[in-house]
Amino acid sequence: MAQVQYDCSRGNHQNITNSTASPVGHEQIQLLLHVCKEAKKSAYCPYSHFPVGAALLTCDGKIFSGCNVENACYSLGVCAERTAIQKAVSEGYVNFRAMAIASNTEEDFIVPCGACRQVMREFSRDWDIYMTKPDGTYIVKTLQELLPLSFGPEDLKKF
Ligand code: THU
Repeated sequence: MAQVQYDCSRGNHQNITNSTASPVGHEQIQLLLHVCKEAKKSAYCPYSHFPVGAALLTCDGKIFSGCNVENACYSLGVCAERTAIQKAVSEGYVNFRAMAIASNTEEDFIVPCGACRQVMREFSRDWDIYMTKPDGTYIVKTLQELLPLSFGPEDLKKF
């Protein structure tokens, strides 16, 4: 499969999202939707019985998947989004263009929790989060929209 390189620097692109980075193409979006749905099948969630899958697109066009991984010590459970980010970072990827998230909830689009939004924020404010339903429909927001007035690495340099 051809890898698409994304210009993740700030630009002035017209897009379906409010992101200023280069648009994610239709095929790539469909692939992200497919990968997050597949990743959900690996969810380890014996306590919540709430499987979640994530697909993280890097600016290099690489996709990392993730699922939620729960623990008998409940608070140690980790969300699908953070699993995907940790997999990517641990393999040397820190520039992200988009993430898609899937759950089994039919009525609502799955949204990332506050902790995951903050972990996403570490790497940029300007990337797209695709929140899906099992029927394949989705809504997309930038991280800036999901976590306005956020605290990030730049803030540590200000004092
Ligand atoms: N969960 C995720 O993995 N991502 C979300 O966006 C929401 C919640 C997980 C955490 C926990 O394993 C289960 O779903 C129930 O909260």
